[in-house]
Amino acid sequence: MSKPVKKTNQSTVKSHGQMTNLIHHAYEAPEGFDAVQPAIHKASTVIFPDVASMHTRNWRLGNHYSYGLHGTPTTFTLQERIATLEGGLHCLLAPSGLAAIGLINLTLLNQGDEVLIPHNVYGPNLEMLTHILGRFGVTLCVYDPLQPNLLHTLIKPNTRLLWLEAAGSVTMEFPDLSAFIKVARAHQLVTVLDNTWGAGVAFNAFELPDGQSVDLTMHALTKYPSGGADVLMGSIVTRDEALYKRLKATQQWMGVNVAANDAELVLRSLPTLTVRYTAQDQSARTLATWLASRPEVAQVLHPAFPDSQGHDAWLVTANNRAAGLFSIILKPEYTAEQANAFCERLSLFKLGYSWGGPMSLVVPYHLSALRGMKNGEVPKHLVNGALVRFSIGLEDVADLQADLEQALGVLV
Ligand SMILES: Cc1ncc(COP(=O)(O)O)c(C=O)c1O
Repeated sequence: MSKPVKKTNQSTVKSHGQMTNLIHHAYEAPEGFDAVQPAIHKASTVIFPDVASMHTRNWRLGNHYSYGLHGTPTTFTLQERIATLEGGLHCLLAPSGLAAIGLINLTLLNQGDEVLIPHNVYGPNLEMLTHILGRFGVTLCVYDPLQPNLLHTLIKPNTRLLWLEAAGSVTMEFPDLSAFIKVARAHQLVTVLDNTWGAGVAFNAFELPDGQSVDLTMHALTKYPSGGADVLMGSIVTRDEALYKRLKATQQWMGVNVAANDAELVLRSLPTLTVRYTAQDQSARTLATWLASRPEVAQVLHPAFPDSQGHDAWLVTANNRAAGLFSIILKPEYTAEQANAFCERLSLFKLGYSWGGPMSLVVPYHLSALRGMKNGEVPKHLVNGALVRFSIGLEDVADLQADLEQALGVLV
């Protein structure tokens, strides 16, 4: 076994004051240390060996270390792994999923452009487009994610970007991604999929049925890749180098990246991503099946259920995989207050946003107040009742079912 070399230069250490010695210590950790998890490299400042490298190293050149904001070995490692996970070639990180959405919108939309978003889009994306991009003259057009055949009627000369989400937020409709991408391609639109639900596990968005591929994926690493309900992070993945460079420029000019400690938490969780995703999927389907048989429940919204909207598209796209996420709509005789009381009566399920973590969560929603639903209009395929969204964690499924059963007792 080779002995680690301790590079301590006692004379250097002794010749300075105590504080200087603590900062300019000569000891360096030995090379040749190998472990299961990669090392954490923390930096704002990166040290250059000479002025020439200070002047030539630049974030535009790729994996060159120049400043913590431009990337560290830890963030580059995570980028590589997320790109691999999602089937892409390039990855950028952002401090939250929503920040990654912002980088995409700011990079690809100019004054006078229009963006297409589905009515079941992640709500804050719609709000960002309305309240921030809208101030700079960007307009948005809300489309029906179940009608790819109508998309071409909404495309104008100034339409630039098509947002996709599979399955859509809260109401869980699964779009025919390939059909949408074909129309977008014919009109030279950039396509971007919010891939948080599929997490890179359910399907490869760059190799979809019919040989279709999205241009970009955005992923809230906050959910399954983190898995701990304790990190906020987002990513953007692409196979297109030119798009990557444009997005990277926005990222750097906006001063957006992630710190090594957060990146390390996601790196630590990645090896268990698939087993967690699969277990949460199985538990969610068990509970959704049981809830579907309950007299209080009018509808279960889960793409693996044959009567869910977009089930056929899910079948050909998602390799029989689904996130541990679904919603129910209670029979119309139950009021919103009763739905709230049901959620509050739950004990293992906690009231909380987000998903993909170890603890099961529940959120009551008012269908008519949901993001893309214009003038409180509820789409025809949904029963107009109180909606409850569940994120299934890693608890014993029998305990979760017992919790649901006791809480349904408030609906009398
Ligand atoms: C579908 C979807 N996309 C994006 C996000 C945003 O992720 P973050 O919470 O990391 O900003 C969320 C968060 O709930 C989400 O559900």
